[in-house]
Amino acid sequence: MERSALTENSRLVVISNRVAVPKARGAAGAQGGLAGALNAALKERSGLWFGWSGEEVAEHTGEIETQTTEGVTIATMDLSKRDIDEYYNGYANSTLWPLFHYRLDLVEYERETAKGYERVNERFAEAVAPMIEPDDNIWVHDYHLMPLGERLRSHGIDNRIGFFLHIPWPPTRLYVSLPYHERLVRTLLSYDVVGFQTEEWLESFVHYCETELGAEVDKKTGKIRLDGREAIARAYPIGIDWDHFSALGNTGEARQAAQRLLSSTRRRIAMIGVDRLDYSKGLPERIDGIGRFFDRHPERARDLVFIQIAPPSREDVESYQEIREQLEQKCGEINGARSEVDIVPIRYVNRGYSHAELFGFFRAAKIGLVTPLRDGMNLVAKEYIAAQDPEDPGVLILSQFAGAAIQLCDAVMVNPHSPDDIAHAIQVALDMPLDERKRRYEKMVKTVRDDNLQAWTANFLRDLAAT
Ligand code: G6P
Repeated sequence: MERSALTENSRLVVISNRVAVPKARGAAGAQGGLAGALNAALKERSGLWFGWSGEEVAEHTGEIETQTTEGVTIATMDLSKRDIDEYYNGYANSTLWPLFHYRLDLVEYERETAKGYERVNERFAEAVAPMIEPDDNIWVHDYHLMPLGERLRSHGIDNRIGFFLHIPWPPTRLYVSLPYHERLVRTLLSYDVVGFQTEEWLESFVHYCETELGAEVDKKTGKIRLDGREAIARAYPIGIDWDHFSALGNTGEARQAAQRLLSSTRRRIAMIGVDRLDYSKGLPERIDGIGRFFDRHPERARDLVFIQIAPPSREDVESYQEIREQLEQKCGEINGARSEVDIVPIRYVNRGYSHAELFGFFRAAKIGLVTPLRDGMNLVAKEYIAAQDPEDPGVLILSQFAGAAIQLCDAVMVNPHSPDDIAHAIQVALDMPLDERKRRYEKMVKTVRDDNLQAWTANFLRDLAAT
């Protein structure tokens, strides 16, 4: 098949594990950035979005359900229990996720789940291939679907196919602990463009290609050549949908949420954290830091309240059950020791909120704590900035290990492993004068507004169209 010359106006086909349909399990409640980000990108170009429905069926049927909303056709497929266990809970979330977040201690290596991962990627390819038209640009997302490009090629799909990894790429010395590490990277080289969130993850990937596979790399253009194949690897830091998110600030829902938080805290200073309940987010470490702060300043339990919103995530995976228990225990200990009949220093909430409500909470909170141990980007950090009042902005405390730290370098930076560092950062944030808060906010909000979701999509798709 001749590769079409059509470029940026071609139809966009997005493929990801999770799609933003109301019935998809967890998609609405989870604070994960991917689904929301892609929905906005697709609305701009009437396109097709394919993914798992979030539903479990007894046997795989390959049946596809479609619905079209606001010009976007969403096509979904159910998965069997075995497929979900091996592909989603297993290889994606018990092998790749911990490994790519530098948590070798949590990685499970199971031959069966690796096979299930390949099998489900093939199921995705079988389902999508008949829907592809010759001019389509295809964009595959995230660690669940790394081999999909190669699978689509084996079904004769010759279109431009790009891949974007939303999570970090680990250093070579960690990555090689994965059995079949070579195979996975070779499949990635079937794509035309492979995108990463930051230069750091890109460098790790390129380092592996060069040193372990002997690939020819042109660092200027990002071209990687191996065995007659050529792919482009580059960094494209994802942003938020600025127009959409900032408009939420004018909604009654956001205002009410802000009011609700303010009136319930009765003039105490609110600090907020919003994260999926995931061990990569550094939640127990954050609570330790807050505990350390209260140890040093016990009197502040009266005028400071920390609100942690943490919707449960991937609940069938053991390490997620453990992190939940750990967090409950730590919050309980601090509250037990420091509460009064009318004062509870930590509010720990296990549910998700709408984006508008989150806007209101962010606006009302004078400190935003985003302290992942490792994170591909972290859009909560960007949303916190976007929600601030320019005349009286709050302070963002940000982990040096979040991809966002490179762009949001005017945040109060912390080592998320250090309770002392977190406790100190809280003090710095509380003491920060208005002019410094404004100076830092103005620099960060510019990045958040300019390097937004639309810019990210346009940059990636422009490179894809140019291949
Ligand atoms: C991260 C991943 C996404 C994922 C999201 C929510 O942001 O990069 O691919 O969709 O978490 O996790 P879940 O397992 O609920 O899809």
